[in-house]
Amino acid sequence: MAIDLEALSTCTRCDLSITRQRVVIGSGPAGPALMVIGEAPGRSEDEGGEPFIGRSGQLLFRLLDEEAGLSRDQCFVTNVVKCRPPNNRTPTRHELATCRPWLAEQLADVRPRVVLALGNTAARSLFGYEQGIGHTHGLVARLDSGPGLATYHPAAALRSGSVVLELMRADLRILRSLVQKA
Ligand code: URA
Repeated sequence: MAIDLEALSTCTRCDLSITRQRVVIGSGPAGPALMVIGEAPGRSEDEGGEPFIGRSGQLLFRLLDEEAGLSRDQCFVTNVVKCRPPNNRTPTRHELATCRPWLAEQLADVRPRVVLALGNTAARSLFGYEQGIGHTHGLVARLDSGPGLATYHPAAALRSGSVVLELMRADLRILRSLVQKA
């Protein structure tokens, strides 16, 4: 069953619908090499209606190109939570659980070969990890859709600098081999 985009774009299942400007659904080709899944839209995305169009996105797609040979238009890009939390706070468990069925429908529709979760919130929500991203980045998980990998959120690399950046680069080289094999 195809996802009801009209219902998603007018969703009021949680209170983020009160403060958001737009539901950021995500976009990309069907059957892509990669589905990139972040945490939730930030200010630029809430205004622009597309995921990862701010500074984090610029870094992310440069790294994906350099380390995994993937361009943005080869990826379907979305978030575990589709609406911006006020002041970019971490989504609550309730918001994550409420939004989860939308992501499940997207995964079933999009059928990516490989999934990349960015940061703690996405990695925990998608792969059920209890440990933080410092322990789970670079691990390969199995989803119904196929293999999945977690790495740091690019915002963490922007904040913390070269150590996190190098860890992300190493994770994305693992991603490259997953995509080649999938
Ligand atoms: N951070 C995210 O997790 N997602 C976006 O779309 C933008 C920034």
